[in-house]
Amino acid sequence: HTSGAAVSSKEYEPFAHQNENLSVDWDNLGFNLMPADYMYMMKCTEGESFTQGHLDRYGSIELSPAACVLNYGQGLFEGTKAFRGENGRLFLFRPEQNAVRMQIGADRMCMPAPSTEQFVDAVKEIALANHRWIPPTRKGSLYIRPLLIGSGPILGVAPAPEYTFLIYASPVGNYFKEGMAPLSLYVEDEYHRASPGGAGCVKAITNYSPVLKAQARAKSIGFSDVLYLDSSSKTIIEEASSSNFFIVKDNVISTPAPNGTFLEGITRKSIIEIARDLGYQVDERSVRVDELDHADEVFCTGTAAGVAAVGSITFRGKRFDYKVDGRLVSQRLYSTLVGIQRGVVQDKWKWLVRI
Ligand code: COI
Repeated sequence: HTSGAAVSSKEYEPFAHQNENLSVDWDNLGFNLMPADYMYMMKCTEGESFTQGHLDRYGSIELSPAACVLNYGQGLFEGTKAFRGENGRLFLFRPEQNAVRMQIGADRMCMPAPSTEQFVDAVKEIALANHRWIPPTRKGSLYIRPLLIGSGPILGVAPAPEYTFLIYASPVGNYFKEGMAPLSLYVEDEYHRASPGGAGCVKAITNYSPVLKAQARAKSIGFSDVLYLDSSSKTIIEEASSSNFFIVKDNVISTPAPNGTFLEGITRKSIIEIARDLGYQVDERSVRVDELDHADEVFCTGTAAGVAAVGSITFRGKRFDYKVDGRLVSQRLYSTLVGIQRGVVQDKWKWLVRI
């Protein structure tokens, strides 16, 4: 049940390329919730598959106090974006990758997942229904947030008897308040995000709140975000709070090799492919914290974060600074990625889904 009445997909007018009737300050979008008109809902009971979803007006949802997601955190989220290209056309970027990642996560969290087709169709439907919220070209994107939750009530620790797949959306600009300015990161070595055998490599909702304390502490002393280390040796870099980590030394790009404890971003994957295609050597390997000392460039990638340059990293009281001018590698990768997303750089991998 939702507070809004269900609407049919006929009620909106797709393919209008205007942001009519919205008084949004498109030049100053940050990463703040500004809910778009419609959300998508689909439910199924345990042991069955998702069948038919529908659009609703955005609004509160009703949950039992005993919902598994509220009591035991059985839930996953995803993040993907819809863009307005230079020619006014509307695009999604690799939404099937989010669908597959949700299926892998759902298996880890004992939940049924929508099929890739159901997921992608629902994301398309949400983007089209909310098309007037897709920012003007070059002003940002519509951030699309799919959720899969154990919504049914249960008292003992066990999978929920009912599941809800829902999607809402919000126009966004830069994720970090720094905008495009370089980030200052703080390496956290007390609190950890994930450990071997945990759920760090899937987008479980439970991965994000245990590190709010570390993030709040770092922000209170002026840092943009936190960089997490592996929980056993505290010598290997894993990821930042909401993005993956890359380091450049002598034109060789390195990024942590997936080891089950950090999330493999779709932007991470895309940047690796773009970099190799541009002729860079990209190594997926263990990146040690002591390598921070002599890196040429550092950057983070994420759907929300984009490609964010890092200006400094502080570890145990020592601060490492990175050159901010002539960030040749990250700038080149970033402009290729956004060029593809705006439809002005050839999409040789067919990552764009036109809607
Ligand atoms: C994204 O980049 O889409 C994410 O899901 C990160 C999120 C924690 C903001």
